[in-house]
Formats: sequence, structure tokens, C-alpha cells
Amino acid sequence: AEVDLQAVLDTLVSVAFEAGRMILAANTNSISPDTKLNAVDIVTETDRAVEAHVSARLRAAYPTFAFVGEETYVAGQTRITDAPTFIVDPIDGTTNFVHAFPHACISLGLAVGRAPAVGVVYNPFLDVLYTGVRGAGSYMQRNASLPEGRGRGERVRLPLGGQSPPPLGGLSSALVSIEWGSQREGPNFELKAQAFRRLAAAREAGGGMVGGMRSLGSAALNLCACAAGQLDLYWEGGCYAWDVAAGWCILNEAGGMMVSGNPGGWETELDSRVYLAVRGASSGQKELVEEFWKVLGD
Ligand code: IPD
Repeated sequence: AEVDLQAVLDTLVSVAFEAGRMILAANTNSISPDTKLNAVDIVTETDRAVEAHVSARLRAAYPTFAFVGEETYVAGQTRITDAPTFIVDPIDGTTNFVHAFPHACISLGLAVGRAPAVGVVYNPFLDVLYTGVRGAGSYMQRNASLPEGRGRGERVRLPLGGQSPPPLGGLSSALVSIEWGSQREGPNFELKAQAFRRLAAAREAGGGMVGGMRSLGSAALNLCACAAGQLDLYWEGGCYAWDVAAGWCILNEAGGMMVSGNPGGWETELDSRVYLAVRGASSGQKELVEEFWKVLGD
């Protein structure tokens, strides 16, 4: 049967606000995170509690859908199939959350046929909500959890500034988000260090040197910023499907695209682990991606 994506969206938005209240209620002065793969790959009680709440709510509302969550994923066992699958990161930007740096969110995606179909990304600290539904556009809303007429913002279609976003120029005029993430061992470190280095370097012809680099600490919010048109590119190696599923849908619906972070891969998969996002633009998307890949490979 066809999935009613709008109904899924409504459920995910309610669940995101519930999760947001749990995240805001946590006392960040007394968090003692546990570690996962290494000392900087962290998880808190709040991540676990939010995931438990979200998974209970979604399993009750959609008992036949599959569920993949960051904190219950089992490496080598959990797989994303063609079935409708909720893909959930209870707190994307856990390091920011632990430091009370107000740039973290809950990321709730639905994939159907292994492609992003609904995305909800909610930053409870700023009360900003991003949503996207396949074929129906993506939106941003400020003061999103307030009652209608009592300060809740309008839903603003993305990209901000209208449906004919400015063209993209070369890398030297681009604002690029790039993250270290927590996976920094051996070849991961080399790949990331090289990417930072090559992008930053001044080049003789003046081209190929990035306009600006940012590492804000949330993959989902990076994708939303690309969708909004606030970032031109976002590159990361090492993140997972739950970091990107929701934001990917929001990006697509705003005219942006996701390709492989490895040079040459125009088609990419939910769990490809290396991603390059580019914002919507009236022209210059493919040229900027190609320039980025070239600099990465130089
Ligand atoms: C992390 C954030 C971070 C990214 C990492 C992710 P988490 O997610 O999105 O920006 O660099 O790769 O793992 O662990 O806070 O959910």
C-alpha cells in the first residue's frame, strides 16, 4: 500500500517536539557521557531515553514499519531494506548537547525503497523546525513549538529567499561545512586531514581555495543549512544513515543534491558513509561539485 507521507510527517513533528522537551529538560551541568567506539564517540542517558521514547511512539503508530536508531543499531546486523524504515538520530550533535552549545537536533527520517521520503529535523534550543516530504517541498519554521497565533512562525518554503536561488560560483566563493566527526583513526584521519588541508590551501591560480570552512557539529543541521541556502557545500566521511536520512530529504526538496564524497560518485546510497551535499542553485551545482572532487584528489 502507498504510504501516506503527510500523515507520517505529522506524527514525526509531534514526536520531535516531545523529544525536544526531553532534551531541554536534561541538566547539562551533570551529564556524564558514556563512550562508544572511542573516547570522543559519546552517548548520554538523554540520547538513550529519547531513542526509547521515539521508537515506542513510532512502533505504536506504524507497527509494520522498520526502525533503525543510532543507539540501538548493531554493526554488521542492522540493515536498511526497501521496506518503509524510520531512521532516527535521537540527538545529532551530542558533543554540542553535552557542552550546552545550542546547535543540536533530533533527526527523524522515513526512507521508502531505501530513498529518503520524509525528513524532520528539530533544534529544540532554538525552536527551529525543518521538514521535507518527497514531492511536496521542504520548509523551515521558527518558534515552531508555540501555539498557532501565540508566536509560532510561518512555515517558510526552502530555500530561503525563494525558488530561484542564486547561481553557485567556484570553490573560492563557497561556504563549506566539513566535519572531523569521531572516526579519526588511520585512513579516516588521513582522508579528513587531507580534505581540510587541500581545501584550505592557497593555490597559485587563485582557484580551488575554499571561501570558508565551518565545523558546526551536526550533520543533520548542516544538511538543513544547505537546504536553506546558507551553506553551499557540506562534506563528511564517517557519518551514518541516521545522521543524514532526514536532512537528505529536506535538501532534495529544496533543489539541493547529495552525491558521494568520494570523487566521481553522482549516485550515492543512504549508508554510503561519505557524503557531499550541495545547495540548490539556478546554475553551477555540477561544476562546483567537480571542482571540489578535483581539489580533494589533487
Ligand atoms: C555526529 C554529528 C557530527 C558528525 C558526526 C556524527 P551524533 O552525530 O552529526 O556533526 O561529524 O559524524 O556522528 O553522534 O552527535 O549523533
